[in-house]
Amino acid sequence: MTRKRVAILISGRGSNMAALIEAAKAPDYPAEIALVLSNIADAGGIARAKEDGIATEVVAHKPFGKDREAFDRAVQAVLERYKIDIVCLAGFMRVLTPWFVGQWAARMINIHPSLLPAFKGLNTHERAIAEGAAQHGATVHFVTAELDDGPIIAQESIAVLPGDTPESLAARVLAVEHRIYPLALKRVAEQRA
Ligand code: GRF
Repeated sequence: MTRKRVAILISGRGSNMAALIEAAKAPDYPAEIALVLSNIADAGGIARAKEDGIATEVVAHKPFGKDREAFDRAVQAVLERYKIDIVCLAGFMRVLTPWFVGQWAARMINIHPSLLPAFKGLNTHERAIAEGAAQHGATVHFVTAELDDGPIIAQESIAVLPGDTPESLAARVLAVEHRIYPLALKRVAEQRA
């Protein structure tokens, strides 16, 4: 089995990244985590990845100012250097350009904390509670040029409970995220998605 070489792009604590790293330790998992890349130098996930002996790279977005494509081209150069097959976005807080998305068509996936197409964008848990949603959850999808859009690979729902706060709901959704992201990546790596 040739394992697909995966890069995980993060901006923060990296708990989904950690779930993917753990899953990829199984000998029969069809992907290896070849790189963790962040736009934030002190992202918590970078330290966590290093603990696991995984290669890390930082491409800061600030020096590129408003030139999003220049930033994306710098990221692309790193991904090519590491011979990456699949990109996993895991709390990567940058909107990617259509050019970059085009480079990774059907090879880039994202996790989003809602039952897409409901609640695209930020603050999904607050909005689910405010709208009185009975069900909430998480979705892994292929990345297309439109934000939080693209074909769905895996999705799992949970009930919104009476008295839920954004924090309590977020915690239960996060547990779902950690379960479905490794499953979705497995499917993509095996070309079963
Ligand atoms: C997750 O809720 C993910 O769905 C969203 O950003 C958050 C990242 O959390 N896109 P973590 O860095 O993986 O812990």
